[in-house]
Amino acid sequence: MCGIIACVGRPDETVDVLLSGLSSLEYRGYDSAGIAVANGALDIRKREGELDNLRAEIEDRPLTGSFGIGHTRWSTHGPPSDENAHPHTDAAGRVAVVHNGIIENYQALRDELEADGCEFVSDTDTEVVPHLMASYLDDGYDASESFRKAVSRLTGSYALAAIVAGEEAIFATRQDSPLVLGVGDDSYFLGSDVPAFLKFTRDVVYLENGQSVTLRPDGWEVTASDGSALDPTIHTVEWDAEQTGKSGYDHFMLKEIHEQPTALRQCLSGRLDPLAGEVVVEELSNLEPPERVQFVACGTSYHAALYGAHRFREAGVPAQAFLASEYSTAVPPIEDDELVIGVTQSGETADTLSALRAAQGHGAETLAVTNVVGSSAARECDHVMFIRSGPEIGVAATKTFSSQLVSLSLLVESLAPGTGTRTRALVESLRDLAGNVQSVLDDALPSVEELVDELADSEAYFFIGRGYNAPVALEGALKFKEITYEHAEGFPAGELKHGPLALITEDTPVFAVVTGDSVPAQKTLGNIKEVQARGAPVVAVTDGVLEVERFSDMVLEVPETEGPLGSLLANVQLQLVAYEMADYLDRPIDKPRNLAKSVTVE
Ligand code: F6R
Repeated sequence: MCGIIACVGRPDETVDVLLSGLSSLEYRGYDSAGIAVANGALDIRKREGELDNLRAEIEDRPLTGSFGIGHTRWSTHGPPSDENAHPHTDAAGRVAVVHNGIIENYQALRDELEADGCEFVSDTDTEVVPHLMASYLDDGYDASESFRKAVSRLTGSYALAAIVAGEEAIFATRQDSPLVLGVGDDSYFLGSDVPAFLKFTRDVVYLENGQSVTLRPDGWEVTASDGSALDPTIHTVEWDAEQTGKSGYDHFMLKEIHEQPTALRQCLSGRLDPLAGEVVVEELSNLEPPERVQFVACGTSYHAALYGAHRFREAGVPAQAFLASEYSTAVPPIEDDELVIGVTQSGETADTLSALRAAQGHGAETLAVTNVVGSSAARECDHVMFIRSGPEIGVAATKTFSSQLVSLSLLVESLAPGTGTRTRALVESLRDLAGNVQSVLDDALPSVEELVDELADSEAYFFIGRGYNAPVALEGALKFKEITYEHAEGFPAGELKHGPLALITEDTPVFAVVTGDSVPAQKTLGNIKEVQARGAPVVAVTDGVLEVERFSDMVLEVPETEGPLGSLLANVQLQLVAYEMADYLDRPIDKPRNLAKSVTVE
């Protein structure tokens, strides 16, 4: 996820402050970095790759300025490169802009600007902003008005900071992407997150959506979207330096669990048409609807693939999910109009890449569903759809699983659109999804903590669910075992009596995922009774529709929502269960033993 830093009021050390801010934002993940400073005219340095590349460039070609802006880029539009790195400028270099987020209407704006003779030098959505500002400057507006007018043309999510040659000011705003103002004694800062400037000040203003801020050497002003001045609350940050990269959370995993509402908004941004009740995934516009689908994936991504395959089958398209590590051992027959989809957060998992290559070798058309722009899967597949979660640092995948489920839901609706009603219902619930996830995150902790206290000494833990909830049961168990080191297994609920039931005792809690009132959900009630009859404590993870709490010892509640999305909400509860249990057992949550974030060997 991109990071922004800006500073005014430290003229002798602007470049050092910007570089130190970028270094504090490295934890967000990035693939290029840059700064722009002002000394009357603007001066810019930017480089693809590590921050050290930018430092080397600055050592070769030093620059100074009395204030400036900086950026770490995590690619969304266009691969990592010097040209695509921020800051971006207009042709004359009068305006420099850094941006975090996605400008959804950038193509229309770019077409309009190009028709007026603007020449673009990058693939980014961001570059429309300096060109727009420059066009307003040309029309005679001052710098502040030009910024406001340019921003009013944008739709999407953005945190933006801009500087203009000859103007001693930094202009910034935010909409659905974070931006924090740091208020020092004689210097002022902006950051995507507090760590960017924490060593200079602990006094911060958390900017709200639609608010703008102007920083000048003699002060700062926050304004509402109508331009009226505001008097925002200044908070004093109490964290210690160790915690800062985690925004105050004890672990990256917990931070990433809590980032899910933002990640999901980002994933859905520009991909829903609520008026038409349709899904629009631009990246998939060149892909013909397939006759059959095969998924290849590993671990958590495999669970997402199981969910995707289930949804394709429901939409009438034959689909199957394969473990990537097994796929190449006997590649299934690939017919005409068959699409092979690799689901991979990192885009670098060796087993998944090898399965995709095997499929290509057999003539398949391939699609990567991945989080990482420029990854091997993104580059090697015929098509790519990005899940737009932002970087995930905790080894245990959390927010990316949720974004995978949503991306695959969008994929199915794009390639096998339902009747108006099915797609419309999904579009409506997708609009509520981030809010529903937020409400689980807000309310879950007391029940989860009580459960952890009660069940921490158990012998083993089982997770069951049917239909959409079968992959969630598998994922709940995987998350639990990988970070608690306790024995945990997940099963499609109907499989219990075909063997695993032999393991059930009063010392083996069973987490039963039951959402909605479908036939699979009703059948899971029977499986709950089977384990209860053998003395196992039952934890229902449920929206309450089937009153499953009447047959359960403990309940983790989720809001009621459209069928397939209830599973995603239930999974958030199971992420919290795994996290809290691992924390209780004092495990190294972000780096579980023997595991790596990206598994690049077969
Ligand atoms: C578990 C986990 C792994 C990954 C698997 C595939 O929390 O993260 O099971 O899901 O290694 O990784 P990607 O999705 O990068 O291909």
